[in-house]
Amino acid sequence: MTASLPLEIVIMAAGKGTRMKSRTPKVLQKLAGRPLLGHVLAVAGQLQARTAVVITGHGAPEVEAFSACVASLCGQFDLKFARQEPQLGTGHAVQQALPALSDEGVVVVLSGDVPLTQAATLQALVDAAGHDRLALLTVRLPDPTGYGRIVRDAQGGVQRIVEHKDASAGERAIDEVYSGIMAVPARLLRPWLGQLTNDNAQGEYYLTDVVAMAVAQGVPVVAHCIADAVQVAGVNSPQQLAELERAHQLRQAQALMEQGVRLADPARFDLRDHANGTPARLVCGQDVDIDLGCIFTGQVEIGAGARIGAYCHISNAVIAADAVIHPFTHIDGEALGASVGEGALIGPFARLRPGAQLGTEVHIGNFVEVKNSTLAAGAKANHLAYLGDATVGERVNYGAGSITANYDGANKHRTVIEADAHIGSNCVLVAPVTIGAGGTVGGGSTITKSTPAGALSVARGKQLTKENWARPTKQPAA
Ligand code: UD1
Ligand code: CA
Repeated sequence: MTASLPLEIVIMAAGKGTRMKSRTPKVLQKLAGRPLLGHVLAVAGQLQARTAVVITGHGAPEVEAFSACVASLCGQFDLKFARQEPQLGTGHAVQQALPALSDEGVVVVLSGDVPLTQAATLQALVDAAGHDRLALLTVRLPDPTGYGRIVRDAQGGVQRIVEHKDASAGERAIDEVYSGIMAVPARLLRPWLGQLTNDNAQGEYYLTDVVAMAVAQGVPVVAHCIADAVQVAGVNSPQQLAELERAHQLRQAQALMEQGVRLADPARFDLRDHANGTPARLVCGQDVDIDLGCIFTGQVEIGAGARIGAYCHISNAVIAADAVIHPFTHIDGEALGASVGEGALIGPFARLRPGAQLGTEVHIGNFVEVKNSTLAAGAKANHLAYLGDATVGERVNYGAGSITANYDGANKHRTVIEADAHIGSNCVLVAPVTIGAGGTVGGGSTITKSTPAGALSVARGKQLTKENWARPTKQPAA
């Protein structure tokens, strides 16, 4: 075993992506909530690359800003950019990266629009290249139309790659195609790139022409053929993006089922990065049931025996053991997180926002919104209510239609409801305010002053009843 060379990753991301018909550069289109280029940069991180050079063109400022943001978060490699304007082909693209590459490394060429290549696959390709070979990642496709074909000699040795548009009918019958991914020592690649011409059907500088140059020079060329086409599939259109999204989601679903998670329908399961950048990660205990149509984003933990009803959207949250989340519930902890206690019952149609912390056996019913509030064990808010910036004690019963008025137009204030208090229906608790332990607030009250423990407080207009009262009748027109 010789020591491995430092890895330098070149990511081609200058193309326009015309078929996406979008204002967003193609490599910033999202798969599983993460821009395509984000998936590629993540693999560069996993491979412990020394350098990643992103070649930009169309939408360069946005693409560069996104890359810099990813690199500052994972920070494992030295990020560099090379602008390619105009875009004269893949060979021309890699030429732009040459000044950023050192001669001691192995160069791995990736495309910013091929998001699902696994680090282990690329590591095998790098190992195949070693110190002195050109390694091509290839795949056999039932329909190879459009791809570069791997042309072999009678002994099976790779001779060259011919692009679809330049290929003869016989060459077009070849089903082994170049994935667009190669690994090669930089000192071999550099002189080849200098010799590329654009004398071909598309008038482009083809990176794939380096294969014939290697053969002519006696440099061994290895084709590392994989069976898994998803890993090398590129995104050129919304259709391909959707297909790859489903393929990726199905793999995530299968991995969860292998751990014992019961998914009602693995084809209707989604796990994505959170919009705030939290990477997708779903950790489940034993005997978790997830009904169909659920979307999980960011970091979500679900404890043993918990059940998630149909069409829930759960993000950056921890659901404890044996909790039941009824259908159509929306939980998003964003940066603060949200948590649901053991055996709690949430929904249907409940909304838990950042900082919602619900204790054991809390009940939150339909059309109840909880934000930045703690509910202790056994507290219940079952219908049409709002709890914001509140501290709610054990066994509190919070009536239908009641709200905490936590915002005075300028500042947020806290509401404290002590243990065993009973808040009637349609109450307004104007913060800052405390309802003492075991106290009762009569329905329809607007409470502006704190109440002592054990008290009944009623704050509403007194009922007036006029017996045998005659309702006004309509006057005839004058
Ligand atoms: C390329 C390969 C082909 C392979 C296919 C796999 C060449 C000549 N051909 O073809 O053998 O089967 O990928 O998908 O390499 N790009 C730039 N600058 C350019 C041109 C392209 O950055 O000047 C980027 C594109 O944005 C894209 C990637 O390079 O991310 C591949 O370019 P694309 O035009 O899709 O190459 P193909 O013609 O598909
Ligand atoms: Ca392509």
